[in-house]
Amino acid sequence: MDLPPGPRAPAAWQTVAWMARPAAFLRGVHERFGDPVTIRTYWTEEPMVLFSHPDAVRDVFRLDPAIAPAGQSWEFLRPFAGPDSILLLDGEPHLRERRLMQGPFHGERMRAFAPVVAELARQELGGWRGRVITLERMRHLTLEIILRVVFGAREEREVATLREAIDTTLGDVRSLPRMLAMALVQRDLGPRSPWGKFRLAVERFDGLLLETVARRRAQPGGDAVLDVLLEQRDERGNPPSDRHLRDQLVALLMGGHDSSAASLAWAFERLARHPDVHARLREADPAYLQAVVKEVLRVRPSLTIAPRLLLEPVQIAGRQVPAGVQVAACLWLAMRRDDLWPEAAAFRPERWLERPEPDRLSWIPFGGGVRRCAGAPFAEMEMREVLRVAADLTLRPVRPEPERARRSLLVVVPDRGGEVVVG
Ligand code: HEM
Repeated sequence: MDLPPGPRAPAAWQTVAWMARPAAFLRGVHERFGDPVTIRTYWTEEPMVLFSHPDAVRDVFRLDPAIAPAGQSWEFLRPFAGPDSILLLDGEPHLRERRLMQGPFHGERMRAFAPVVAELARQELGGWRGRVITLERMRHLTLEIILRVVFGAREEREVATLREAIDTTLGDVRSLPRMLAMALVQRDLGPRSPWGKFRLAVERFDGLLLETVARRRAQPGGDAVLDVLLEQRDERGNPPSDRHLRDQLVALLMGGHDSSAASLAWAFERLARHPDVHARLREADPAYLQAVVKEVLRVRPSLTIAPRLLLEPVQIAGRQVPAGVQVAACLWLAMRRDDLWPEAAAFRPERWLERPEPDRLSWIPFGGGVRRCAGAPFAEMEMREVLRVAADLTLRPVRPEPERARRSLLVVVPDRGGEVVVG
């Protein structure tokens, strides 16, 4: 069975282009080979077929997890993510975990988190003067939000200890080549070896997380995501174990930290170059604010693909795809298709206030199907609150030309970190 066409360049070259210039690479392969296109990178062992047409995207998102699992791709994260992690599970255990985790991200409960996020955003942005690398500041802010709003850390000392442990532990997880290399070896050659050091850092971090869980159990009735997670009950009415809660907190940390920081840095990068949009944000129209959030996520998605590994051949948009390859809904290409998005490359939030609304399957920054981002409502709320505060800043770009996209491990970030001048 033939795979769709794609670049013949060696995987090493495609990997470099994929990492260094992801937007140009995706645009290039789409222009040359159309949709679908097959790419080969070191990112996965198998070739990857990228789809972007809504019909194909629908089929990818509807694939049966028994023949197209997604959890396996994250196997190397197991030592940090933990055995109960939603990121690693597939099939029924994955669905069960999703049902459990969704509690805090609905309706009133979700909205209750907004004032704390807004206050943390005011504290962060209030101190900005002169040149600011917004990506660095947003990494700091989104971590602060996770520690306070998700983990429910209250005192500065608790926040500082957790922050420090995450910086050291995630330092290793963030370094994907190191993580992969360590996962391959996984031999504890003493506390000074990389794996030994990593294990110790994870143990120390776990100790802190379990203390956090114990504190929240001892003081019920709090208003953090963790407090809501403590109320979960499985089919038999049992509450979650401490280890299970630990894995849920880590999944929310891994899913929600870098992705949100990257999207917010892109928001600053775009706003600084579109003073008209920035000025209109100041009018405090909630519909326009939401349109800006959606447009940032469309035109500069922080994740570019939602991949699944095929264990059996399947049909996608009428096309037969063999087993043993990765298929992916390409979020970046789907949201940049000229046939679906007039002036696709333009940053134009107004499009969201015009009729007709775009096709639901062409706006997919959070992926889709049973693995759609579990924190999407939280991520959008976070962006709204930060942008509401950002509306009052005076922003201009350090250089007029748009920042290019580069990959920082899993997420795509502005290559100069979304640098702006404030004031
Ligand atoms: C703008 C920010 C964010 C973006 C663009 C984003 C995007 C995504 C994407 C594309 C996926 C994979 C979907 C798929 O494979 O179909 C995902 C999964 C996930 N995200 Fe997010 N995310 C963001 C923020 C967050 C936040 C704030 C949280 C938690 C508080 C979170 C938690 C998760 C979790 C737990 C998963 C795994 C879901 C599963 O496997 O069932 N994400 N996210």
